Amino acid sequence: MAQIPLTVLAVTNQKGGVAKTTTAIQVGAYAAQAGKKTLIVELDPQCNASATFLTMGQSPDGRISTVPPEHPEGGVHISRALFTNDPWLPYPTATPNLFVLPASGSMFQMDYKPNAIEMAKKAFLDPEFRKAFDLVIIDTPPAKNLYSEAAITLATHILVPCTMEKKPFEGLMGVLQFIHAVNEPLRSEEVAKIIGVLPTIYDSRMRINKDNLKRLNKNLGRLALDIVVKRRPSYQEVDMVAKDYPYEVPKAYPEARKEWKQLGERMLVELGLK
Ligand SMILES: Nc1ncnc2c1ncn2[C@@H]1O[C@H](COP(=O)(O)OP(=O)(O)OP(=O)(O)O)[C@@H](O)[C@H]1O
Ligand SMILES: [Mg+2]
Repeated sequence: MAQIPLTVLAVTNQKGGVAKTTTAIQVGAYAAQAGKKTLIVELDPQCNASATFLTMGQSPDGRISTVPPEHPEGGVHISRALFTNDPWLPYPTATPNLFVLPASGSMFQMDYKPNAIEMAKKAFLDPEFRKAFDLVIIDTPPAKNLYSEAAITLATHILVPCTMEKKPFEGLMGVLQFIHAVNEPLRSEEVAKIIGVLPTIYDSRMRINKDNLKRLNKNLGRLALDIVVKRRPSYQEVDMVAKDYPYEVPKAYPEARKEWKQLGERMLVELGLK
């Protein structure tokens, strides 16, 4: 039987602090406000994406500091369940059409079981799940581990945010090698399209940012996206209120708002949703 089509975007880079989570949220929120039913799946025990939308708390025994609240329909539903076949349900957020399947601070590499990724693939084949969303965005941890491997395996599309700082830039080849290594054993129809590298937190006053952007364009061809996301404190302000208000970059920040919309539009096109 033919599968119900579902677009799955993995936002990944093994380097920390390059705006993976910010990008996942910005693209997710834009897609949601454009009418696409969107789910952000967080596979990072840091829980930064989850904590943007949900009030995280402590585990009952106090040993884990970041766990999601009780799900409105009962129980605590976290993305680890994808790897165990336990039941799970996405949480609604204050942003219409935007849902989150949160991580928990209890998700460590110890979750690894030999067939964990196979289980996650099976979870993603559930027709009810596939029918429920137009777009699933997976936020990944800053590591080459089970979760980032799973995200690449489950994805139909991959986006690599990267700052133009020295070390993240130098790490880019390693990121692309990891993606290729994960893709190697997959059947050709399972291999995700790499949308490209998105330069983030870009500051044109910094020489190293400018030089590395030039190098990126010279060395990566079509994989160097022709858009950048600039360094803007206003993005952090939007994050701070997304639990209570729909996520959008307010009109008070016209440049940032324009940039957010451009990124969102472009991603919808790249994802074939526009
Ligand atoms: N365009 C931007 N302008 C200014 N600050 C930004 C921008 N994008 C992200 N940031 C900030 O940079 C920091 C790192 O961003 P973010 O958490 O999205 O990165 P990450 O790659 O997900 O990090 P990690 O690897 O830890 O998961 C955050 O404090 C975020 O608010
Ligand atoms: Mg993150």
